Amino acid sequence: MKDILRSDKLMLVHSDIRGPVFQEALKMEKAGEKVLKLNTGNPGKFGFGLPDSIRNALEGHLDEAVAYCDLKGMPNARAAIKAYHESTGIEHVDENNIFIGNGVSEVVSMLTTAFLNSSDEILVPCPCYSIWPNCTYIAGAVPVHYTCDEKANWYPDVDDIKKKITPRTRAILIINPNNPTGAVYPREILEQIADIAREHDLAIFSDEIYDRLVMDGITHTPMASVAPDLLVVTMNGLSKSHIICGFRCGWMVITGPTEKAKDFIEGIVALASMRLCSNALMQLVIPAALEDKASTEAMMVPGGRLFEQREAACRAMDESRELTYVKNRAAFYMFPKFDAQKHNITDDRKFAYDLLKAKKILIVPGSGFDYMTPDHFRIVMLPEPDELYRAMAEISDFLETYKQN
Ligand SMILES: Cc1ncc(COP(=O)(O)O)c(C=O)c1O
Repeated sequence: MKDILRSDKLMLVHSDIRGPVFQEALKMEKAGEKVLKLNTGNPGKFGFGLPDSIRNALEGHLDEAVAYCDLKGMPNARAAIKAYHESTGIEHVDENNIFIGNGVSEVVSMLTTAFLNSSDEILVPCPCYSIWPNCTYIAGAVPVHYTCDEKANWYPDVDDIKKKITPRTRAILIINPNNPTGAVYPREILEQIADIAREHDLAIFSDEIYDRLVMDGITHTPMASVAPDLLVVTMNGLSKSHIICGFRCGWMVITGPTEKAKDFIEGIVALASMRLCSNALMQLVIPAALEDKASTEAMMVPGGRLFEQREAACRAMDESRELTYVKNRAAFYMFPKFDAQKHNITDDRKFAYDLLKAKKILIVPGSGFDYMTPDHFRIVMLPEPDELYRAMAEISDFLETYKQN
C-alpha cells in the first residue's frame, strides 16, 4: 500500500501550542520527568475549580439534554446569550442569528467555511491565535496578517490594516481581548477599524471570548456595539470565564445588516444542521453562567488568582535582565520579548525545545502565532503566583547563558 498523505488543504495548517515541542514534553512526562506546561490556556489543569453556578445548573437537569436540540442551540440558552450581548451594548441581537457550537473553535470553522471562497483574503492580526489562520487555509482562503504594535500596547496598527487591503479582502478579524498579547483595545481603535470596514464594504469578525476576563478597571467594548451598521460576527464562550474548557461551549452572534447576509446565514444553517446540534449538556449551563459574573470577576481583582499570577510574572520579568514585556490587561497570556541577536536565536522553536530540555518548562514560541521575528514567546499565567514567579525567573536564567549556533 502507498503512503497515505494528508489532504493538500492541511499543508499550511500548524499548531505549535500542541506541536512537536509539546510532543517532546509529553514524552518527558511519560519517562517520569515533571514538566511545567505553560502552553495551553486550560485553567482546569491548574486547580481552578468549577463555579457553583455551573454545577447547580447541571444537577437535576440531565434529562433535559438527552435529545438532539435545535440546530442553532437551545432556545433558552440563545435567549440568555441575546440578553448578555445586549447588556454589553450590542443593539438588536436576533436569537435567529445566534449559533451555539462545541466551543468557539467549532463556530470559527463554520464561519470561515460558510463565508470564504478560494483565494478570498481575510485580515488577521500578527501575532494571531492559530485557529483563525488555520480555518482560513482549510476554507481555501488566505490570511493576511496586519501588525499589532508592541510599542503601542500591542494595539492594531490601523495604517497597516489599510495598506493590506486588496480587491480580494472580505473581512477584518480582531481578537479583543487578545491572545497571545492580553491587550484590550480602546474604543477609538475599534472605531477606526470600523471606518475601514465601512469604506471597503468588509465584514468584521470579532473574537471576544475573553471579554469578561479584564483587569485594572478596564471596560471591554464589543466591536458590534461601535459598528451596528456593519456585518459583525462576534464570538464568545464559557471555556475560560467559567473554567469549562472541556465542556466545549461557544457561540457566534451575527449582527448588523443581516438581511443582506441571508444567503451566508443559510450557509451557516446548512453547516449547523449537518452536525445535527452541538452538545446539549453544556447548553444547560449557559443561562446560569451568564448570570454569574461574580465568579469570573473574583479572579481578576487584587487577591484573585489571575490578577496575582499576572503580578508575579511581571515581578519576575521586572527583575530579569533578559526579558521585556507589555503588561496584559485581560485574559492570562503575555507575549514577552528577548534579544534574539544577542543570543544568536534564529529558530524560536529550537529555543522552546532547548528551554524545555534544560528547565522542564514548556512555552509556545512566537512563530506559533505567526510572529515574524524569532524573539517572542507566549506564556500562560495559570500556575499559582510563587510557581509562576520561579518559572519566569528560570526562563530568564536560561537566557543568560543561552546561545544558538
Ligand atoms: C482567542 C481565542 N479564540 C477561541 C478560542 C477557542 O476556545 P473554545 O474553547 O471555545 O473552543 C481560544 C482558546 O484558547 C482563544 O484563545
